[in-house]
Amino acid sequence: MKIAITGATGFIGTKLVEKLAKDNQIIILTRNVDKAKSVFSPAIYSNLEFINYTPKQEGIWQNKIDGCDAVINLAGAPIAERWSDSYKQEILDSRQLGTRIIVDAIAKSNQKPQVLINASAIGFYGTSETETYTEISPAGEDFLAQVCQAWEGEANKVTEIGIRLVILRFGIVLGNGGALAKMIPPFKIFAGGPIGGGKQWFSWIHRDDVVEMIIQSLKDNNIHGTFNATAPYPVTMNKLCETLGSILKRPSWLPVPSFALELLLGDGAKVVLEGQKVLPQKTTELMNYNFLYPNLESALKQIITTEF
Ligand SMILES: NC(=O)c1ccc[n+]([C@@H]2O[C@H](COP(=O)([O-])OP(=O)(O)OC[C@H]3O[C@@H](n4cnc5c(N)ncnc54)[C@H](OP(=O)(O)O)[C@@H]3O)[C@@H](O)[C@H]2O)c1
Repeated sequence: MKIAITGATGFIGTKLVEKLAKDNQIIILTRNVDKAKSVFSPAIYSNLEFINYTPKQEGIWQNKIDGCDAVINLAGAPIAERWSDSYKQEILDSRQLGTRIIVDAIAKSNQKPQVLINASAIGFYGTSETETYTEISPAGEDFLAQVCQAWEGEANKVTEIGIRLVILRFGIVLGNGGALAKMIPPFKIFAGGPIGGGKQWFSWIHRDDVVEMIIQSLKDNNIHGTFNATAPYPVTMNKLCETLGSILKRPSWLPVPSFALELLLGDGAKVVLEGQKVLPQKTTELMNYNFLYPNLESALKQIITTEF
């Protein structure tokens, strides 16, 4: 397959490209080709094409979508930063306008891709300590919920031109990087313990499962619609810290103050401090996805022993 990917240089994208490049031709749409080249091993360069693109503006790069079999749209400004008004606008624009331009490129191409796989987030549902969210739950009202709705709204337009669309609402992705890499250091310093109140939900997924879910979505033409990319067994923050504590061999009774996490995750800490319980109902029933890591303990053990 010939596959164009935005956000290919990120935490999820790099793992995905490593796997896909084995038997596919990958077009990496990036804001900075030189930086992107440094992210991947030259051993896989022969199957990669690096293209400079402008995520919020039309350009000749859009022609590169023509003739692709699939497009995977992962790009977006990181949320683990301080959210000034202008940065909030960037969080939104990089996803809403970024997705609009990709859909526009698909619409303009003569030989259109068969599928668009678009990232979204469980931030779609808002936060709650008591609710359980599945794919049919309504959208929340906070800033991230609004961003996700705008992002998905743009992606949905691709169905109007007959293209198969798979939207994956990612939970907190665990691997060497992302939220976990930022949470482990304060956890170690403070001897480990609940972050924030402790009762908030932590809907996680192993990065390898995200990659496999994307690959299944690429291959199976029957998969379309919106799916929660979260493990079937979300945990509370207390449980996460107890499990991390036992794997890292640290006591897990001393609470990590919220400010420590806020220092590292900025306003993005809200996702971890308030939390939400999300279940992958359609993912297991309709996509028939079999999780490599359904349980937190096996996921964390694998990541900490092989990736950190
Ligand atoms: N990781 C998670 O736990 C998680 C959870 C829920 C949702 N998601 C979503 O899934 C997608 C991929 O996640 P990730 O963790 O791999 O993200 P990431 O590591 O932050 O990488 C995202 C990529 O997007 C591009 N990018 C960064 N800032 C941008 C901007 N201002 N405008 C346009 N593009 C920009 C960059 O690619 P170039 O520099 O090559 O252009 C970057 O490599 C993101 O949209 C993220 O919001 C992730």
